[in-house]
Amino acid sequence: MLKACILGLGGVFLGQISLAEDIPGDPEAGRKLAGQCRTCHGIEGMAKMPIVPHIGGENPAYIEHQLTAFRDGRRVHEMMSVVAANLDDQAIADLAAWYSSQTPVASLSPGQDPEQAPEACTACHGVDGIALMDDAPNLAGESVMYIDTQLKAFRTGKRQHDIMSEIASEMSNDEIRAVADWYSSVKFEVEAVN
Ligand code: HEC
Ligand code: HEC
Repeated sequence: MLKACILGLGGVFLGQISLAEDIPGDPEAGRKLAGQCRTCHGIEGMAKMPIVPHIGGENPAYIEHQLTAFRDGRRVHEMMSVVAANLDDQAIADLAAWYSSQTPVASLSPGQDPEQAPEACTACHGVDGIALMDDAPNLAGESVMYIDTQLKAFRTGKRQHDIMSEIASEMSNDEIRAVADWYSSVKFEVEAVN
């Protein structure tokens, strides 16, 4: 919006207001950089261990926000804070372009009745865990451990976000476990672009 206004004024100030999100990402450059991520996230963004989230097919803005938050210390994790410390804005844009270029595919397991999906979550995270808004991450197929850890981090304030901190603050351990079970039961894979 700001950028559009300034462009309307002749684009004079454009260089001064560039944000990480305004840098165009190059998916091919991102693919090469993803070599640093593959042990944990795979090249296509399918997690290799339960403490690690899937990031293939995530919205590019979400990936950029999280990498920037790890780098700037707003989100803290012993592994990711170290990884992100070495990424400049261009690398973050390239990695986001690469991982978001994968197509996320989610399908409910045979035993899952869509009517039983957690109502408090589906408006943003979908019934099948594919996000319905740009700022929200996919939850499909994430491990119980990962979902549980993040909701408790929002609840204690270790991780902060206007919407999620409030939602999680009202959840009991049992409720957290139930929603984690739902989304982790969804079958998830990414369809590689090539
Ligand atoms: C040693 C393992 C490891 C490596 C290497 C690693 N990550 Fe991670 N990543 C993690 C873990 C664990 C988490 C979850 C952190 C948490 O619990 O908050 C994570 C979280 C993330 C998230 C947040 C996803 C979400 O759903 O919120 C993004 C984005 C991410 N990593 C991108 C990357 C990228 C890009 C690279 C390579 C430059 C990378 N990671 C390298 C382990 C790793
Ligand atoms: C109004 C929209 C909205 C609703 C409703 C909502 N979320 Fe979220 N959720 C978000 C957004 C936006 C984020 C990204 C937070 C951030 O940027 O750190 C998020 C992040 C998360 C994460 C972190 C995932 C990751 O990859 O790191 C989990 C887990 C989560 N939500 C679970 C839930 C559950 C369970 C519910 C229902 C009880 C729920 N959310 C309801 C918008 C929503």
